[in-house]
Amino acid sequence: MTSPRILLIVSGGIAAYKSLELVRLLKRDGIAVRAVLTKAGAEFVTPLSLGALTEDHVYSDMFDLKDEREIGHIQLSRQADLVVICPASADILAKMAAGMADDLATTILLATDKPVFVVPAMNVRMWDHAATRRNIRQLISDGIIVMEPDEGDMACGEWGKGRLPDPEAIAGEIRRLLGSARDDVITMPPARLLADSSGPLSGKHVLVTAGPTHEPIDPVRYIANRSSGKQGFAIARAAAEAGARVTLVSGPVDQPTPRGVTRIDVQTAREMLSAVESALPADAAIMVAAVADWRVEQAAGQKLKKDGSGAPAPLSLTENPDILATLAISAQRPKLLVGFAAETEHVVEHAQAKLARKGCDMIVANDVSGGVMGGERNRVHLVSADRVESWDEAAKEIVADRLIARISDRLQDQA
Ligand code: CTP
Repeated sequence: MTSPRILLIVSGGIAAYKSLELVRLLKRDGIAVRAVLTKAGAEFVTPLSLGALTEDHVYSDMFDLKDEREIGHIQLSRQADLVVICPASADILAKMAAGMADDLATTILLATDKPVFVVPAMNVRMWDHAATRRNIRQLISDGIIVMEPDEGDMACGEWGKGRLPDPEAIAGEIRRLLGSARDDVITMPPARLLADSSGPLSGKHVLVTAGPTHEPIDPVRYIANRSSGKQGFAIARAAAEAGARVTLVSGPVDQPTPRGVTRIDVQTAREMLSAVESALPADAAIMVAAVADWRVEQAAGQKLKKDGSGAPAPLSLTENPDILATLAISAQRPKLLVGFAAETEHVVEHAQAKLARKGCDMIVANDVSGGVMGGERNRVHLVSADRVESWDEAAKEIVADRLIARISDRLQDQA
């Protein structure tokens, strides 16, 4: 597998020197970094030090003929898996919110088709200013991922919010977004990404199911599958960040509960169905759980023992209730019902058939022929009655952000 790649834009501000430490940490984690330095950024760090740490050319000039011939600003914006702006000054945030493209950095930001993560740092009054608040709201609703600044003493002698977070925390967030999680990321505190209180899903209730179900055979054995719950938990997190009230009904998984999410833990498909029904009404339901299709008709009350004959214990299976299909015909059907489909072949065709069979509005079809189950990344197709959208492979967190953006649009269209 090739190492993940970051395009790091360093804009102006006293915190710019900390971007050097960030580069060092990212390189330590096996992440390739290519840097773009704005004119103001170059007042605080030199291209030479940034270039020495990234071990690459540092790009700054939009009209540098040599750079344009060799790589070009469009390509520069597309070759990374994630674009990071650190530190992001009030000025670059304002330009982004307005869609301006008057230098290399802002042109890249307008031309990129990759997720963008911004780490603002500025004086507390600038951070609190109505214009910056408005710009941040705009950026979040445009799908930009924004990290919350730290509070504390400022370089200018004032105290308040606006300090650049610790580079280790920023690097952790970047690894999480890239899906290249190491063990310490799993145990990291929940993301400090900003949610919009007037976010696109504010006032909405979103119901998510996640993880596998465990269907008992006897008191010590059960039928299960490889679902880790990662994708469902990422969707619950993204919905909460978009301002929704989120209920997450989860099978047995080892995942931290995303901030602001109400979690209900269940074991079996039947428990999942009744938890889902009691959580209604909801504006949208996203059924990500890999529900076991069958359960043992009569789970044994005592541990099944070998009887010495060599014959295996007979297990009679019966079908579980289909939670998604049940919701689709319920009197309290959510306005938007989204199902997932795990397929290994004819992914789109099977998803289209499933969409009609289950009576939902959208199917997120994922190709599970690789190591998707339990993995960090996902390749999906969004299938609805009138269209199919195929997305590039991305970290599950990023798939979640994009899906929530689509769901917000659909709910707004229906309003
Ligand atoms: N689902 C559900 N209740 C079930 C089974 C599935 O709610 N008992 C939901 C899943 O959460 C998912 C979608 O239905 O949103 C998946 O449908 P399913 O028919 O199970 O698809 P696959 O697992 O892909 O299985 P198959 O292709 O065999 O139909």
